[in-house]
Amino acid sequence: MTSSPIGRALDEVPRTPLAVTPTPLLESPHLARHLGLGAGLWIKADAWTGFGLGGNKVRKLEYELTPERLLGVTHLITAGGPHSNHCRVTAAAAAHLGLSCTLVLNGYPDDPARGNALLHRILGAEIVTVSGREDRAPAMEERARHIERAGGRALLVPLGASTPRGSLGYARALGEIADQLPAGARPTLVVPSSSGGTLAGLILGMALLGVEWPVVAVSADDPADEVKARAVELAQAAAGIVAADLAGDGVDSAAEAVRVTDSYVGSGYGEPTPESEEATLLFGRKGGVVLDPVYTAKAAAALIHERLETGPTVFLHTGGHPALFR
Ligand SMILES: Cc1ncc(COP(=O)(O)O)c(C=O)c1O
Repeated sequence: MTSSPIGRALDEVPRTPLAVTPTPLLESPHLARHLGLGAGLWIKADAWTGFGLGGNKVRKLEYELTPERLLGVTHLITAGGPHSNHCRVTAAAAAHLGLSCTLVLNGYPDDPARGNALLHRILGAEIVTVSGREDRAPAMEERARHIERAGGRALLVPLGASTPRGSLGYARALGEIADQLPAGARPTLVVPSSSGGTLAGLILGMALLGVEWPVVAVSADDPADEVKARAVELAQAAAGIVAADLAGDGVDSAAEAVRVTDSYVGSGYGEPTPESEEATLLFGRKGGVVLDPVYTAKAAAALIHERLETGPTVFLHTGGHPALFR
């Protein structure tokens, strides 16, 4: 990727290779015909980043867990819901790197022997349970202090690895998509969104490439304006790491092409809706594409129901399959 502007910006940034990349960009002609997408539908298969059962968190952790940041570190601490994909991949990374891992989870899974809850345990993480989302950060800090008192050193990985550094993983992914699409294509990207790091990376990638592709980002939980504000702030900070001249107007004009919708959340995070269930069956039966119920099924519902621009559509499949088995 060195020859592209994204490659040139990112190649000097330290990274711990974990993901199997580039992930395939699969054309899905039968599903496209079924959905009336005359200019074609491509699935960016980031469910297949491989490491720790894959998904979008692998690309972000590559930039979070660099050798310099891990100097002297004995523990990783992160947080999420009881079935968090991010916690699964962080626990896998800790085991891979020979570190201990503590996961601060808000709530208990219905069945700890299923889905990501099972994987958190298989991967050897210590589980600390707190009662609400707001209790996670203090519990992480407390655990870090405890580890330091015992002579260790903890690195705290923020929620979803949605940090400026973590977002660089998705600038890299945008470069792959640009390389994989037919030359000159101006796609519409459809992407699930929550903590905003994935979207932030895509925005930065567009700014680096100097393109303004329409993006429909589909919230899995938070209000649309919050998701967008968080993503733009992260993209600005990420630009500060790799391309300071783009922080400011460069990122802002790429972000203008982004529309975030929260119309597919339904009654809440992880709760199925009639549209997400319809999308799951349609993608499965007409495309052989297996969606997860929490993120990609809701994004696919938006792809089906929103009016998209006339160019090719790229659906970013961010993974999350263990939630099908929880
Ligand atoms: C499978 C999956 N898709 C999408 C997302 C959303 O990504 P982000 O938090 O970067 O917005 C997440 C994490 O929250 C996820 O686990």
